[in-house]
Amino acid sequence: MATPHITANKGDFAKTVLMPGDPLRAKFIAENYLENAVLVNNVRGIQGYTGYYKGKRVSVMASGMGQPSIGIYSYELYHFYDVENIIRVGSCGSFDKDLHVRDIVIAMGACTNGNYAAQFALPGTFCPIADFSLVKRAAQLCDEKGVRYKVGNIFSSDTFYNDSSSGLEWAKMGVLGVEMESAALYCNAARAGKKALCICTVSDSLIYPDENASAEERQTSFTAMMEIALELA
Ligand code: HPA
Repeated sequence: MATPHITANKGDFAKTVLMPGDPLRAKFIAENYLENAVLVNNVRGIQGYTGYYKGKRVSVMASGMGQPSIGIYSYELYHFYDVENIIRVGSCGSFDKDLHVRDIVIAMGACTNGNYAAQFALPGTFCPIADFSLVKRAAQLCDEKGVRYKVGNIFSSDTFYNDSSSGLEWAKMGVLGVEMESAALYCNAARAGKKALCICTVSDSLIYPDENASAEERQTSFTAMMEIALELA
């Protein structure tokens, strides 16, 4: 069995798939956190692995960047590989004065300037949201680990480089930050009757543009996010 973008066989993926944007990050997670990880997909370098974390079977596969890309991979995982939960582990730019580089955003909802939801032909505006049980558990895990985090809306932008706006206008509606994938993922989960969550570490701040994290600090916050996502699985 193969889909247009995944060559894995049915059953090769666990019920829960962690999704970083970057294929090398998928490889890093598989090599550093999973036991007996097996490469199950490498079409277009979108590496997917399945292994075990604390005895639980879990997969990790990259989404690529942007809503069209995560739209394809999450659709195929939900509909053709019987995946139940997709947990995006990403990074975001922060719009929020309480959030600093390395903090975590749990994206309860996802606003967007994209048109992904138009395909569902709804007579209004669909509100893409995460699965509540995953949101709740992720927040509990952040509390237990003493990680700084906020739960709220994120803005899934179709542009990283934008001619007229940084997206900061969304801050007046309490939106916490910007990334590029969650809204499409949440739409696909809703349509498939499955579960999704996006957790992001703050990689840069539009409020505090001088804030920077060293490579080591970024790795530490990434590790915290990864452990939360793996515990969720
Ligand atoms: N824009 C879009 N996506 C991002 C950003 C950003 O500033 N930072 C991290 N992911």
